[in-house]
Amino acid sequence: MKFFIDSADIEEIRQAKELCVLDGVTTNPTLIAKTGRTIRDVITSISEICQGPVSCEVLATQYDEILKEAREIAKIAPNLVVKIPLTKDGLQAVASCTKEGIKTNVTLCFNPIQALLAAKAGASFISPFIGRLDDIGHEGMQCIQEIRQIYDNYDFKTEILAASIRHPLHIRDAALAGADAATVPFSLFTKILQHPLSRDGLEQFLRDAERIPN
Ligand code: E4P
Repeated sequence: MKFFIDSADIEEIRQAKELCVLDGVTTNPTLIAKTGRTIRDVITSISEICQGPVSCEVLATQYDEILKEAREIAKIAPNLVVKIPLTKDGLQAVASCTKEGIKTNVTLCFNPIQALLAAKAGASFISPFIGRLDDIGHEGMQCIQEIRQIYDNYDFKTEILAASIRHPLHIRDAALAGADAATVPFSLFTKILQHPLSRDGLEQFLRDAERIPN
C-alpha cells in the first residue's frame, strides 16, 4: 500500500520524506489555508520535494471553470494530480481531464456508488473519507471494502486512496481491505513508528551489548 501524507506543511512533508516511505502528498483548501501562502506557491514547493503524485484541489464548482482550473494545476509540475469534488460537474470535468491525459483524484467520496461513477469517468484516484463517515456513525472501512470489490469485479484501474484517516487502525484496516494507498496526517506518521516493546527491546539489547568483549 502506498503512503501519502495529507498535509500542506512543507516542514512536515520534508520530515515525512526523510522516513523513506513517502509515495505522494494530498492537500485540500483547509490545509493550504493554514499555511498563509497561495495555492500555487504551496503546491510548487511540495512538488519540488515529492516526486510522487501531489494532489491539488480545484476551487471551481462549474464544469467549464473546473476544467480551466484543472488545466492550470496540471501545468505546475508533471506529478500534479487534480483533486475534483464528487459532483455532477466534477465528474464531467474528470471525464474531460481523463481524455486530455490530466490525472485526477476524486474527493469527498462517501459511498461505493459514487466511487463507481468516478471510476467510469476515468478517475486516477478515488478518495473515500473514512474518518468523516465514522464521525456520523457509519462504517468508513466498509466503504473501502465495497469499493475494492466493485473495482475488482469490473477491473477498474482507479486507485483507492483511503482518506480522512484518524488513527493507526484505520491504516491497518485500509491495507487489509486492499486500499491502494492511504493518505495520513503527519502526527500519525510519527505515532505508528513508536511501539513500547520496540523501544524497551532496543534499550535492553544496547545494555547487554556493553557486556560483549571487544
Ligand atoms: C484527503 O485527501 C483529505 O484531504 C483528508 O484526508 C480529509 O481529512 P479530514 O476528514 O481529517 O479533514
